Amino acid sequence: STTRITVPVSDVGAQISPRLFGTFVEHMGRCVYDGIYEPGHPEADERGFRRDVLALVRELGATVVRYPGGNFVSGYRWEDGVGPRENRPVRLDAAWHSTESNQVGLHEFSEWAADAGLEVMEAVNLGTRGVAEAADLLEYTNHPSGTALSQQRIDNGRAEPFGIRLWCLGNEMDGPWQIGHKTADEYGRLAAETARMMRFIDPEIELVAAGSSNHEMPTFGEWERTVLRHTAGLVDHISVHAYYEEAPGDPASFLASGVGLSRYLDDVAKIIEDVRAEFNIEKPIGISVDEWNVWNQTRWNEVDKPRAFTGDWPVAPRLIEDDYTVTDAVVVGSLLITLLKHAEHVSMANLAQLVNVIAPIRTEPGGPAWRQTTFFPFQLTAAAARGNVIALDVQSPRITTARFGEVDAVDAVATIDGDDVALFFVHRSLDEATTVTVAVPSRLDGLEALVISTPDGADRHAVNGADRQPVGPASLPIAVEIDDAGISHLTLTLPPLA
Ligand code: AHR
Repeated sequence: STTRITVPVSDVGAQISPRLFGTFVEHMGRCVYDGIYEPGHPEADERGFRRDVLALVRELGATVVRYPGGNFVSGYRWEDGVGPRENRPVRLDAAWHSTESNQVGLHEFSEWAADAGLEVMEAVNLGTRGVAEAADLLEYTNHPSGTALSQQRIDNGRAEPFGIRLWCLGNEMDGPWQIGHKTADEYGRLAAETARMMRFIDPEIELVAAGSSNHEMPTFGEWERTVLRHTAGLVDHISVHAYYEEAPGDPASFLASGVGLSRYLDDVAKIIEDVRAEFNIEKPIGISVDEWNVWNQTRWNEVDKPRAFTGDWPVAPRLIEDDYTVTDAVVVGSLLITLLKHAEHVSMANLAQLVNVIAPIRTEPGGPAWRQTTFFPFQLTAAAARGNVIALDVQSPRITTARFGEVDAVDAVATIDGDDVALFFVHRSLDEATTVTVAVPSRLDGLEALVISTPDGADRHAVNGADRQPVGPASLPIAVEIDDAGISHLTLTLPPLA
């Protein structure tokens, strides 16, 4: 088949926030313990963090890191994670049926994030706690000196404030699984009052209200509207959480997950505009897609979770360590394209999570760290997407999906930064190659195409493991012709996912 794309370089869209390439570290499973932090490992630095993992995190090129949860934060006491380590309490983590040692807390994590080049996005507990504890954490974190809490931070070894700017007002409070789950009115009021007090303490911060846990929640829509009616004028962003998985026998719908995310983002953007108009709010409210990824949630809910939530309370158990396939990498690429296409409304986004837990990076205790298939689309996109987004005119073969109807086989977007144009494609066909021609009205030199490839004979189910990593980026040949009018015509063939 053939696909024709034109790049209207003069029709420049929204500016891309570097925060679109955020990630997420939760105290969950082996993300922190036996993930970024493993004091006994041969690669551990003097603070216990693994150097090899840090190097991969830097290579990934993420910009922001959300911390410390997730569901974990809704039962967390931040005070447990500061002060001398030998005095820190060991606690039950009811969110994940685990034991939390508190050996990593605000200080250790912030230093690690600074080393990794990541801006911390801190979440406050609005499950078991409220206004006072959130305000205390902010004062401890950001107030320079002269108060009991800022002095406590200084005594704990940090003279300068952490200067954390981004704050999440709780996590997934609409979900019945959440510790301290609330109705939209209950949460909206609490989020508004917490926001008000936090802003009194530090007017420079940006606040994220918790939106729905997914687009299919029965309360979706009404939740956002109610929460924003309470908090509009007090918050800068509202969250979207979006996870996708392959339903048995339906890879086509899974590959079209970007269409689902696109509809979700459009729905939330519309609600934001309605509430801003209703309350005459000039300040924009962005969408923070503060958790997104591929995650086999059916397996988690039906098989792994019932097992994990009975019996012992282990330290750093193996939780949701999905092995990502080539197909998953294509879906991650297409979700990134969707985020770029919605750059006008999406103010930030976090690939959830960073290490071991549904993560692009995996580790073995005492053993290696490696890149999963999903590492590559994230890394390549974060490195190349710069400047402003350009919506493309794509004429592609169509694919019929059970979940999303007819979708384009090729999904694509471009970004432009000065003279640099970057093109991003995914090909969602399972059976047919497509030859793509792209017309760009500028002369393109030094063109390079990278694709996520499988080795000869491997298929769309190929994964990278501790011992073997057959999947990685490889270049794809591109033919370029420049016509008399100075228009570059690129031709490349995208193989099917076989
Ligand atoms: O990322 C894993 C979990 O998914 C998070 O803790 C929670 O917020 C979401 O349901």
